[in-house]
Amino acid sequence: MKTLHFEKQAVCPETGARAGLLHTAHGTIETPVFMPVGTQGTVKGLTRKHLLEELDAKIILGNTYHLYLRPGHKLIEGFGGLHGFMQWPRAILTDSGGFQVWSLSQLRKLKEEGVLFRSHLNGDQHMFTPESTVDVQLSLGSDIMMMLDECTDYPSSHAEARKSMEMTVRWARRGMRHYRERMESREPRNALFPIVQGSMYADLRRECVAQLGELDAEGYAVGGLSVGEPRELSMEMTEVTVPLLPADKPRYVMGVGAPEELPEYVARGVDMMDCVMPTRNARNGYLFTSEGKVVIKQAQYREDSRPLDENCRCHTCTTYSRAYLRHLFQAGEILFSTLATLHNLTHYLDIMRRMREAILLGTFPEFLKTARRLASSPNS
Ligand code: GUN
Ligand code: ZN
Repeated sequence: MKTLHFEKQAVCPETGARAGLLHTAHGTIETPVFMPVGTQGTVKGLTRKHLLEELDAKIILGNTYHLYLRPGHKLIEGFGGLHGFMQWPRAILTDSGGFQVWSLSQLRKLKEEGVLFRSHLNGDQHMFTPESTVDVQLSLGSDIMMMLDECTDYPSSHAEARKSMEMTVRWARRGMRHYRERMESREPRNALFPIVQGSMYADLRRECVAQLGELDAEGYAVGGLSVGEPRELSMEMTEVTVPLLPADKPRYVMGVGAPEELPEYVARGVDMMDCVMPTRNARNGYLFTSEGKVVIKQAQYREDSRPLDENCRCHTCTTYSRAYLRHLFQAGEILFSTLATLHNLTHYLDIMRRMREAILLGTFPEFLKTARRLASSPNS
């Protein structure tokens, strides 16, 4: 049974960066890819037209936790899953809820069976199990479903991290068994990725990879990063984990990163990433440009007639001035969110496209060198 086909196109011999094509039931994704986050069945501020025609996003993310609580996965299933409900024709990946329970819900209680939690919306009690989160995601119809995991607190002792990682592995075994049973009576359209945990301990990460590898999944994710640790540690953990994952399958690092980190992850063999940073920061007036960060509320932009980013071809940058964007932000106008999100995501997806091109052309090492030089310059 195969729900995905990952076609590797090129590997950079100096770094291990990969370019490929990930074929899903809802189209082909060019990798490495950054996936815009659409937590509640919407990439905040954008219409489908923006996503399709302006950004040409091939895959977006949804969250099991949010959609299960509201409006409910059964309602969404009645609309033909999330694709039908939000009228999104391309691929969707959904997170399992493990991380959102960890970061959002009140009174989280971990049991062998699963995780008991109270809704952040109304306090109602719910339980997620490895089996139930597969079923919820099958109702949502995601092309790539994520396994229920426990995102280990940072910092954690080695003993705590081991206990947590072992739970994630036991849950993954259960989730995979349940998934395979469900898939016996369905068309193979939904893949399921287990998530590597192990906190900041190399030995635990290695052990977790070895155990999850036995599940022979169609792709693997690395979780538990960007949880407050210094950047060097996230990179170190990526370096010990990613090369051990099956080379012929997609590798997804969850919840990363800042624009200057994207090349670093790709250089370490990562194919897929997602992060709220471009979308959330946009709404807060933090804009990423080819010349570094722009905090649009600053007085220096009050009469600035230049585009936000001279090197960007997005609708925002080809139409409006910094002064106008600053005005919209200061006035609390909703258009600001749309224009800012459109730009930040364009910036992210452009970085990804340029990296992919460089890997295919064999010039990724030069790209990386330039990116590192720019990242260490004072303005960024
Ligand atoms: N998103 C960012 N980090 C994580 C993680 O560790 N687990 C899950 N499920 N989602 C994430
Ligand atoms: Zn732009």
